[in-house]
Amino acid sequence: MTNSAIWLEWLLEGMHRVQWALLRAMHGLGLVGDVDGQAAWPWGWRLAGENLLIDQAEARRFAISLLVLAGVMLLLFAAIWWRRGRPWLWGASALALVLAPWPSAAVLFTHAHPTSFHAASEPLTDHAIASGARLYAAQCVQCHGADGKGQGTLAAVQPVWPPNFASPLLWRRADGDLLWAVRHGVQGRDGRQTMTGFGESLSLRETWELLHYLRALAAGELLRATGNWSQPVRLPDMALRCHDAGKRRLGDFQAQRVLLTTTDPQKLLPDPRALTVWLPARSSASAPPDSVDCVVTSVMDAREAVALINGHATLDETQWLTDRSGWLRARNARGAAAWSDDDLLCKSPLADQTTTAGAAAGAVAGDDQLTRIIRSLDAEPVRFVKGGRVH
Ligand code: HEC
Repeated sequence: MTNSAIWLEWLLEGMHRVQWALLRAMHGLGLVGDVDGQAAWPWGWRLAGENLLIDQAEARRFAISLLVLAGVMLLLFAAIWWRRGRPWLWGASALALVLAPWPSAAVLFTHAHPTSFHAASEPLTDHAIASGARLYAAQCVQCHGADGKGQGTLAAVQPVWPPNFASPLLWRRADGDLLWAVRHGVQGRDGRQTMTGFGESLSLRETWELLHYLRALAAGELLRATGNWSQPVRLPDMALRCHDAGKRRLGDFQAQRVLLTTTDPQKLLPDPRALTVWLPARSSASAPPDSVDCVVTSVMDAREAVALINGHATLDETQWLTDRSGWLRARNARGAAAWSDDDLLCKSPLADQTTTAGAAAGAVAGDDQLTRIIRSLDAEPVRFVKGGRVH
C-alpha cells in the first residue's frame, strides 16, 4: 500500500472499529443475541470497507464528508455560547451538510448478515486445512472444482456459474460473510437461491475449517498463476518438538520470524535471525538436530497444508520465511543457497521501493541477502483492513 493511501487505511479501520464497538455495546446491554457462538449483527446492512477499498474516489468523498460533519459539530457547539451568532452558525451548518460530497449509499453500504462481524472461532492450523480439504472433496468439489476455479462437474447446471476462488474474491469478503454463505446459502440479485446452505450437514467447526482450506487453496492457485501474492497469506499453526520443551506449537512463539525449511538440517547452520523449523519428510520421535530450533511433528497435515499454499510446487529443498506477525513473505526453493529479492512473495509498489532502499542500506556492513529481505519485511508490514488486508 502506498503512503498516499494511509488515510484510507485509517478510514477503513475506523469504520470497522465503530461498528464493532456498537455491536459489543448492544450485546453487552442484551439488545442483540448470539448466532453461531458470537454476537449477532442486528441489521441487514453494514458499512462496506471492501467497496471503498476498490472505489477510492467514493472513499475520499466519505472522508471529506466526515470532516465536514466534525466541523458542523464544532459550529453547533459554538452556537451554545454565541447566542447572537446562532442563526449564522445554524445556517452555515445546514449549508455545509448539504454541500458535503456524500458518497453514494450503494457504495458505502452493503448487505450484511447476522454473522458479518464474526471472527474465525477455529484456529488456522495445518490440521484444520487438512480436514477442510477432506470436507471440500466430499461436499463442494462437484461444483467448485478441485482447483477452486468453479469448473466442477455440476457447475454448468447451477443457476449461476460458481465463482473462481483463485482470485482475490475470498480476501475481499469478511470471514463472517463467507461463514454465512456456506451455512445458509447464497442468494442472487433477484433473491433466487444460487447455492444451498450446508448448515445442516456441517458443524460450525467444519465450516471454519473449510474456509481456512479455501483461502489456502486460493493462495496456492494464485501463487502458481502469478508467482506472488497481492493478498497476504498466513503460515498455519503446526505441532512441534523444540529444544525448548515448553514450546509445542508454532503459535507458542509470539512475534518471532519463522524460517520453515525442508532442507536437510545437516546442510544448515544455526540462524539467530529467525526461529528455524524443520519440516521433515517423515515424522520421527528424535530430538530436533542442533542446527534448527524445532522439528515439525504434525508432518502429514503440515506437508499437506504447506503444499497447498505453495501451489503444489515441490516441497523439497525449500525455505519459507514469515514476518513477525506470521505472514508468509518470502520463499527460497534453492535449498541452502543464498536468498534473492525475487524470493519475496508479496508484491506492492511500496515493497518494491523499500527493497531498493533496503538494498542500499544492506550494502553497508556486509549484510547478506536474507538480512536485506528481513529488513524490507520489517519496513513494510502487512496492514490490517477488514474485508481485505493489504500489504
Ligand atoms: C451444487 C453446487 C454447489 C455446491 C455443492 C457448493 N457450492 Fe458454493 N457456490 C455455488 C454457486 C453456484 C455459487 C455462486 C453463487 C452466487 O454468486 O450467487 C457458490 C458460491 C460460493 C461461495 C462464495 C460466496 C460469496 O460470498 O461470493 C463460497 C464461499 C462457497 N460457494 C463455498 C462453498 C463450500 C465451502 C461448499 C462445500 C461445503 C460449496 N460452496 C458447495 C455452488 C455450489
